[in-house]
Amino acid sequence: MAKPKTQFVCQNCGTVHSRWAGKCEGCGEWNTIVEEDPMGGIGSGPGKVPKKGRAVTLTALSGETEEAPRIHTGISELDRATGGGFVRGSAVLIGGDPGIGKSTLLMQAAAALSRGGHRIIYVSGEEAVAQVRLRAQRLGAADTEVLLAAETNVEDILATVSEGKRPDLVIIDSIQTLWSDTADSAPGTVTQVRTGVQAMIRFAKQTGAAMVLVGHVTKDGQIAGPRVVEHMVDAVLYFEGDRGHHYRILRTVKNRFGPTDEIGVFEMSDKGLREVTNPSELFLGERNAKSPGAAVFAGMEGTRPVLVEVQALVAATSLGTPRRAVVGWDSSRLAMILAVLEAHCGVRLGQHDVYLNVAGGYRISEPAADMAIASALVSSLAGIALPADHVFFGEISLSGAVRPVSQTAQRLKEAEKLGFSGAMLPATSAELPKGSSARWTMIEDLPDLVSRIAGSVKKLGKQEEDD
Ligand code: TYD
Ligand code: MG
Repeated sequence: MAKPKTQFVCQNCGTVHSRWAGKCEGCGEWNTIVEEDPMGGIGSGPGKVPKKGRAVTLTALSGETEEAPRIHTGISELDRATGGGFVRGSAVLIGGDPGIGKSTLLMQAAAALSRGGHRIIYVSGEEAVAQVRLRAQRLGAADTEVLLAAETNVEDILATVSEGKRPDLVIIDSIQTLWSDTADSAPGTVTQVRTGVQAMIRFAKQTGAAMVLVGHVTKDGQIAGPRVVEHMVDAVLYFEGDRGHHYRILRTVKNRFGPTDEIGVFEMSDKGLREVTNPSELFLGERNAKSPGAAVFAGMEGTRPVLVEVQALVAATSLGTPRRAVVGWDSSRLAMILAVLEAHCGVRLGQHDVYLNVAGGYRISEPAADMAIASALVSSLAGIALPADHVFFGEISLSGAVRPVSQTAQRLKEAEKLGFSGAMLPATSAELPKGSSARWTMIEDLPDLVSRIAGSVKKLGKQEEDD
């Protein structure tokens, strides 16, 4: 039989090409295609005799099911993000930028679990034993019974964790360093990572140990190389944060055993990660309520309300094409709001630079933030500060209408709890909390919002012409 030709695999999306190219046709990334052995140790292809299948018992959808058996870490923000703790026999991928604190988080989790009497194995492929020990000392975890190994070979790791009593949790830090004898390609390639992860998942399913896999992400936010890994594991969590800020967010993007919209919030200190149980206080911490262009958005992260300040700066431009710079929000959503403001409210920003920032390095993904953003923009343009004791939320449609958003009551309750006494919200909102002394300003549409903030819409248009 002819030797199979080598293949070229994109390290970003896993697309297979027959020859090398600078750009991957699958995902459009440049310089991501690497030559790999097609057999890749996956154990298929020519040379193997197909084995006859064994029939499995078919079963009905109804019937007794048990709750997934979980291991609680006792770190409530971590348990919240995983949906109540690590599930036995499952594999979790924790992704994040290098240096964001993944190893720190997992060492703290390992220490907490070990104190709870669990058998924890921490396999470090990136750092030597001495380095991991140093970190453990700093975190006050050195006195726990976490078992440590510095190893990158898949077969050796499997032999190690299979020995002795079954571990409750195995941490592999990181999957990019894994390499297997059965795959011929270089460590870090799609084939190697996939083979390694597959072996780890198989171990978890067979033994019932929980498996935590650490993966680095590239600058555009994907787990470096193989997105394929995301499909293989049971849960994917991203550890995010801004280097300039101390807090970190653990965000669930996939979870076969729990909700996917929960976040855990931590703060990085000199003694490791500290839980932040009330994130709103953190994001509103350094607020200057009197300046124009700042609006507090009452957002939701899963079941938890999060209040965060959005800041806009609208300034006359000196460039031919005005600048639009956005941090923490979607720039095409900003373009949409600017267009709606212009089309329905006569607020023209074509001669203005627009800068938008979400305070504290936080990222907003909810369309419910539209109203807060529009308010901040109008406030900055008009030079009029928004009422400091108000929160804003509501989705804006292309027609200029303001649409209601979900969980109105929770948003308002959180705002009241943090001392806000008013809110601007969609007129059609249902489920307003009863018996509250706060002032709810019901906004019909975008022109209504603009005139409430800037007095009259005409004034804004005029200011525009004067510039
Ligand atoms: P680390 O967990 O090594 O990141 P990752 O595994 O995601 O690459 O964390 C590295 C950063 O965290 C490093 O810049 C130092 C900082 N750090 C603290 O600020 N306090 C601490 O107690 C620890 C252990 C780390
Ligand atoms: Mg690390």
